[in-house]
Amino acid sequence: MPSTDQYDRIASDIRRPGVEPEDGVLNVRELIRHATLAASSHNTQPWKFHILQDSVSILPDFSRRCPVVDPEDSHLFKSLGCATENIVHAAAAQGFSADVRFTPGEDRVAVALYRDTAARVTDLYRAITRRQCAKTMYDGTSLGALELKKLEEAGAGRDVRTIMLLAEAQKEAVVDYVTRGNIAQLTDRAFRDELVAWIRFNPAEALRTGDGLSGRTTGQPALPTWLAKRMIGLALTPKRQAQTDAANIRSSAGVAVFVSTRDDKAAWVETGRSYERFALQATALDVRTAFINQPLETPSLRPAFESWLNLTGDHALLMVRFGHGPTAPFSLRRSIDDVILPE
Ligand SMILES: Cc1cc2nc3c(=O)[nH]c(=O)nc-3n(C[C@H](O)[C@H](O)[C@H](O)COP(=O)(O)O)c2cc1C
Repeated sequence: MPSTDQYDRIASDIRRPGVEPEDGVLNVRELIRHATLAASSHNTQPWKFHILQDSVSILPDFSRRCPVVDPEDSHLFKSLGCATENIVHAAAAQGFSADVRFTPGEDRVAVALYRDTAARVTDLYRAITRRQCAKTMYDGTSLGALELKKLEEAGAGRDVRTIMLLAEAQKEAVVDYVTRGNIAQLTDRAFRDELVAWIRFNPAEALRTGDGLSGRTTGQPALPTWLAKRMIGLALTPKRQAQTDAANIRSSAGVAVFVSTRDDKAAWVETGRSYERFALQATALDVRTAFINQPLETPSLRPAFESWLNLTGDHALLMVRFGHGPTAPFSLRRSIDDVILPE
């Protein structure tokens, strides 16, 4: 039975530092390894990569969709955006610039790569192997003005901006919306079943699939899957989840909402890119982030939440809390051979 030590060794090997390019030749497998370290909804890793002469295409893997929490595949396309952003920074580290285009009809993110003497290793590139969603409590301290400015700038993209909520009253309003989201989601049998199907209750199960929400990342004790599935009804209640989330939000320096002027596939990819950049910048600053998307995923709550944000026509697409706090054990990934399409 694989132990937590084996889990941690493999999680760390997946995140080994990048290799230097040899003789200016692009190492595409390294680009894809970095792409797969991106965030994805429920750690579904809903992507496939097609390597072409001077470009890489990122395509959706619809067999990994989550139809209950994400019926329109908006999180799925945001996840593709997260992977895209990592490729851009990993290419720069190898001396290549990237031109990113999303073709809605083909559901394809095409990343054209060309040599660029100005492209180089950046702090955001170095952060790719360390970025994580740290889902525990933070230490309650605030961020400095310069840190906040850097995060806000990193989160801005084409038609995407971040709204930074820092005041206690704003955080309390977010707590209230997240609580209502937890009640709506965790009293829905279909939502719970889908969520539980992506939870990996012990290192053996997580290592077997290389995906999903590993209990190790949130400090849950490892349990045999059959036992955990029987006990989950007691542990995963709206009340307990709301209490945990409330404490976590109150311990955070602030909340960032990613807002776009549009709500379509292209906007979802762009928003994923913005989140990933924000998270890489946060990692570079030693700041933690974790998603709290419940109000945006709950159709009955989203309009009220957007009105509370004073959005007129813009769309709230993602929400994260951020702050100073401890790192967490890392999540796993599938082998890159499983996500590269044959030529
Ligand atoms: C579009 C999107 C939506 C997500 N929604 C949530 C969420 O609502 N709650 C949560 O705890 N994590 C959420 N996550 C984070 C994933 O669980 C996380 O990225 C995944 O488990 C991999 O872990 P890592 O980001 O630490 O590598 C989301 C990630 C993405 C990209």
